[in-house]
This record gives sequence, structure tokens and C-alpha cells, in this order.
Amino acid sequence: MLVEKNPDVPANAFGDDIATVLVDEETLHRRIREMAAAVSDRHRGADDDLILVCVLKGAAYFLTDFSRALSIPAQLEFMVVSSYGDAAASSGTVKIIKDLSADIAGRDVVVVEDIVDTGLTLSWLIDNLKTRGPKSVEVVTLLRKPSGEKIHVDCADVGFDVPDEFIVGYGIDYAERYRTLPWVGALDPAVYS
Ligand code: IMP
Repeated sequence: MLVEKNPDVPANAFGDDIATVLVDEETLHRRIREMAAAVSDRHRGADDDLILVCVLKGAAYFLTDFSRALSIPAQLEFMVVSSYGDAAASSGTVKIIKDLSADIAGRDVVVVEDIVDTGLTLSWLIDNLKTRGPKSVEVVTLLRKPSGEKIHVDCADVGFDVPDEFIVGYGIDYAERYRTLPWVGALDPAVYS
């Protein structure tokens, strides 16, 4: 689903920094419920609880809403990773700052991601998780920037395809700001240029 830009930005804590709303709250939550239903249907009846892997901090809001909408049991795991090199352009070289606390061998794993741009970080993460012997690994991402793709990552579910702009809100930041917005918007280029 490709999103429409809406220039009617609701009053918010960050003044005029947001240029457009891309996904409003109602649309966001409706789509997250659909994604949770699809994942529940795919994994219903499995012997073990699903393991949801959330990469902090960006996917935290998505994980909490998505997991609460599942109709099957799931367990939560968190990772913190950092990309080396230029912060503005993903290099694909990733260092684990905080690792999973559970053994995922033999388990069904769903990586819950905020936004896929080049795909380099996620591609590295999937390869890393596969070395641990899970039964399956799939990715659900709330947002995807199709124009940024450098390496293709198969996503089982994608919430919204977004334009190639700097996206913030609903957990996604620019320099640690804007995460707390309840909807997804595009940052005014004047803020970062
Ligand atoms: P990739 O390796 O280029 O796919 O980068 C994925 C990560 O870069 C995401 O998990 C985000 O943390 C970050 N990122 C990519 N695009 C944006 C954006 O538009 N706004 C904020 N963070 C972004």
C-alpha cells in the first residue's frame, strides 16, 4: 500500500518540523491489526510460542501494538545493533550492542522491523539469526522505501511503502527526536539540511 502525503499536520510537540503526515493513527492501527492477523494465521497451531525479535529502538512502538494484536502466543526478544560508518547511509556492517537473551534454535522467529531502506542492516541480521539454527525466520516491517533498495530482503508482510524522504514518528527518529509522535510523517528537509 503506497501512502498519500497529507500536508494537514496535527498540532504536535515538534512545532513545524514535520512537513507531511504519511500514515495517520487510525490507518496505522488498522494495518497493524491486519498484519498481526496474517502472522497469527501463518503460525497458528505451532508446537512452540513464536519468538518476536525487535530491533531497538525504532521498532519498539510497532512491536508493542503488533504483539498485542496477535491471536497466538508469542515471546518478546530485543536486540540493539549499530551500523558502522556514515550514520546517514547504512553501510551494512553491523555490530551487536545487545544480543537476544533467548536461544532461538528450533524456533519460529519473526523479526519485527520499523523501516527497510537499503535492506543492508536487515539482510545482515537475517544471516546472523540463521546461524543460530532457528526453524524459520521471517520479517514483518511496518514501512519500506522501495526506492532505497540495495539488497533485496524478502518481507512476509509490509505495512506501507513510503516515499524516499526522511521518515519520523511512531518510534522512528531523527537524532533521537520525533519518536514519540503517534503517527508517521516526513521531516521538513530544512531540519536536516
Ligand atoms: P537500511 O539498512 O538502509 O535498510 O536501514 C534500516 C534502518 O535505517 C532502519 O531500521 C532505521 O533505523 C534507519 N532508517 C532508514 N530510513 C530511515 C528514515 O527515513 N528515518 C529514520 N530512520 C531510517
